[in-house]
Amino acid sequence: IRVAVICGGRSGEHEVSRKSAASIVANLDKSRYEPQLVLITEAGEWVFGDDEPVSVFDAIERLRDLDVIFPALHGPYGEDGTLQAVLEMTGVPYVGNGVLSSAIGMDKEITKKLLAAEGLPVSASVVLRPEVDEPKEAEIRQLGLPVFVKPSRAGSSLGVSRVDRWEDLPAAIARARESDPKVLIEEAVPGREIDLAVLEYPDGCLSVGPPLEIRVAEDRTFFDYNAKYGENGAVFDIPARLDGRINAELADLALRAFRALGCAGLARIDFFLRDGKSPVVNEINTFPGFTALSQYPQIWDTAGLGYPALLDVLIDTALA
Ligand code: DAL
Ligand code: MG
Repeated sequence: IRVAVICGGRSGEHEVSRKSAASIVANLDKSRYEPQLVLITEAGEWVFGDDEPVSVFDAIERLRDLDVIFPALHGPYGEDGTLQAVLEMTGVPYVGNGVLSSAIGMDKEITKKLLAAEGLPVSASVVLRPEVDEPKEAEIRQLGLPVFVKPSRAGSSLGVSRVDRWEDLPAAIARARESDPKVLIEEAVPGREIDLAVLEYPDGCLSVGPPLEIRVAEDRTFFDYNAKYGENGAVFDIPARLDGRINAELADLALRAFRALGCAGLARIDFFLRDGKSPVVNEINTFPGFTALSQYPQIWDTAGLGYPALLDVLIDTALA
């Protein structure tokens, strides 16, 4: 089976994606697959193996020769439906989420609105749109300190700040705007941070992995970019120590979120447990980090599905 593993891309998570793809290529069973690594440069050119860069138009032609495509990109232009639209043009099956669920999942404002409309619990937030300059001061203050300030469309916590004093808010908004003109200000949810993994099998059945708890090192204020990719930034407990009722509730919410957004293949749904007991959906990742140390592959490994077998399921589902 000839499989194109696409990585890089025009996003702040370019390097993370290259690491995810390197792990995927290393773990593909070579007796079954013939991997072809395809790098999208930061300038948006496509590089097949060691070949000269080509445009996206030429890339579509070349991808048509492959059996399946594994888009291993994170963030804008990769995980947000734009790349998935290009893959649709090739007519070749691809792993994971389609255009709409990817576009929704990338945008934290739209994700929250859809989940809330389905009755799923989300945290309170205020949206600052680029075109309106109204301050929304009163609404924001109602959230209470601390607040988290986030670009609406970004990943790996890039551009995210925790604000403990109102005088620091303008700088945090400016920082988030470097990643996205649309910014979200969210209430902080005190409690625990738990990630759930959903995986689709070729027959359409969905499986939820054991919950993973993120325990951030004490010198960090939250699970930021450095905690995610630096050494000793955080410890994962799999399965998280939770009582059976909360476990079942999280699994149910994860499946409902997956379905509400029309997801396919896979997703990692990140929760907070308010005061240690009430789940709140924080966000959904339609292509979660995929290095060998990332949450998603680790969750499945703990469940008895090792990395190569996980790749088999993802590819078989794409081909089904
Ligand atoms: N956006 C990063 C890759 C994650 O969710 O794991
Ligand atoms: Mg997250």
